[in-house]
Amino acid sequence: MLREFHPGDLETCVCLLIEAYNGEPWNNHWTNETATRYLKEFVSNEKFVGFVICEKEVIVGAMFAHQKTWWTKDELFVDELFIAPRFQRKGYGEKLLAHAETYAQSEGLAGLTLLTNRYLPAKTFYTKHGYKPAEHIIFMYKQV
Ligand SMILES: CC(C)(COP(=O)(O)OP(=O)(O)OC[C@H]1O[C@@H](n2cnc3c(N)ncnc32)[C@H](O)[C@@H]1OP(=O)(O)O)[C@@H](O)C(=O)NCCC(=O)NCCS
Repeated sequence: MLREFHPGDLETCVCLLIEAYNGEPWNNHWTNETATRYLKEFVSNEKFVGFVICEKEVIVGAMFAHQKTWWTKDELFVDELFIAPRFQRKGYGEKLLAHAETYAQSEGLAGLTLLTNRYLPAKTFYTKHGYKPAEHIIFMYKQV
């Protein structure tokens, strides 16, 4: 079952995010506190769009996104997408992505945009579903 994110889903999503990213291959170090703050920031966006996917009523994955204003046509920016490790590669990610695409289409948006790590399986996942790298864009940072 796939449905809209409700505020009461936050705690479960925090646990899933920690599970999805603290292990291989991401090896992040999210804590309950940082993961809660991280996800809450997305939810507080006035243009927040979120979906959860469930297996027998239990949430196994989620997408946190927002409608992003752009000078051509607005788009759906995917801030987060994760599936609990034991439910990965069973088609849940694909279902969430397809649902978000249908949503974007129904809202008259141009499409979906997102950032991910080019060296990790997420890139294979998005490529499989027709996503292409924007060659002209560079993600820059400066350590201070
Ligand atoms: C990336 C992710 C969202 C994909 O969701 P999923 O439910 O596992 O993926 P699906 O079952 O819908 O699709 C599987 C396809 O995605 C790709 N894929 C997903 N995980 C993969 C992995 N570990 N290794 C290689 N390919 C992978 C493959 O193309 C795979 O197709 P295949 O099984 O026929 O080879 C999920 O694995 C995940 O949450 N990973 C950890 C967090 C993450 O990377 N999030 C995205 C960051 S933006």
